[in-house]
Amino acid sequence: MPPSATAAETTAVPAAKELGFSAKQGANWSEYLSFRPIYPQSFFERIYDYHSNNSSATWDIAHDIGAGCGVVTATLAGRFNKVTVSDPNPGYVTLAQKLLIENSGLEVSRLRFLQEGAEKSSVRSGTIDVALLCECIHWTDTEATIREVGRELRCGGSIVITHYTVPRIVGNAGAQRVWKLIWDEYSKRANGPLLDHAFPIINTGFESLELPTDQWENVTRIYINSQGDLGTFRMNDRVGENKVKQGEKRLWVEGDQDWSDEKDIAWFKGYLATWVPVIPESDIQDLWNELDALLGGAKVHIETPIAMVLATKKFN
Ligand SMILES: C[S@@+](CC[C@H](N)C(=O)[O-])C[C@H]1O[C@@H](n2cnc3c(N)ncnc32)[C@H](O)[C@@H]1O
Repeated sequence: MPPSATAAETTAVPAAKELGFSAKQGANWSEYLSFRPIYPQSFFERIYDYHSNNSSATWDIAHDIGAGCGVVTATLAGRFNKVTVSDPNPGYVTLAQKLLIENSGLEVSRLRFLQEGAEKSSVRSGTIDVALLCECIHWTDTEATIREVGRELRCGGSIVITHYTVPRIVGNAGAQRVWKLIWDEYSKRANGPLLDHAFPIINTGFESLELPTDQWENVTRIYINSQGDLGTFRMNDRVGENKVKQGEKRLWVEGDQDWSDEKDIAWFKGYLATWVPVIPESDIQDLWNELDALLGGAKVHIETPIAMVLATKKFN
């Protein structure tokens, strides 16, 4: 008998407050899968290389936190014996379960699905080898999340926090200028407590995330396709305080083709619609028309900047 989705272990914890990236705010997983960048193998290799540098590293259980529909888990399952998949928004881990088990054929016994937030998890202390927070920490109470992940990890385990921002158009300055105006319009509309919390975190390329030295070591911050400038992550003026500590390592990787692509006007419209709040196309029709004219029906080169923060849980 094929494994049924209901056979997977699922725990539901009711959410207390409004959550980021909810269906109510316009999150749409079908569009997300069509228009967001696909995490390339090199993204995972950087994580695995970092984790391997710790001689005591083990590869038993990964935790994909804020997993959404499970895009990161799909690859993690190729490297870890088991993956815990968690997300607090109702229905998201159920969808992840369907896509990972029914559609991708991963074994039910290797996955555990939890409907819960990053700040307080039911995962047992000291059991996780690598915990990943991809495109999600800005929706959380970051201090509580980093502390909680530290509780879940084994000593010597790795925390991995990542954020890709809006791609830039390369080789067509006029189109980049209009694309930027579209995102300025997005920023104007992206208000309210959740977004006022999220922007100061992502706008710094995660330099506002603190990894306390009593719990973490070997903190490594990697910036890909940022042109040596953290301003590339800045979408507006809501910027958080820099919490980078002396001794943390910074690596800059430029011209990473794995985070580059060729895209047309339909893709630019689809991509914007994957960010909450969603701006109806008709609201900014003049800008779309201008971008369309500047692209002239052709595809244009894009590069996506991405920030990755990796750290190791210290031995007590
Ligand atoms: C943009 S999606 C990222 C999905 C996936 N990790 C990826 O990289 O594509 C952001 C996710 O963060 C989740 N999220 C929102 N609040 C959260 C919280 N407090 N703790 C953990 N995840 C949260 C949302 O439900 C959503 O699935």
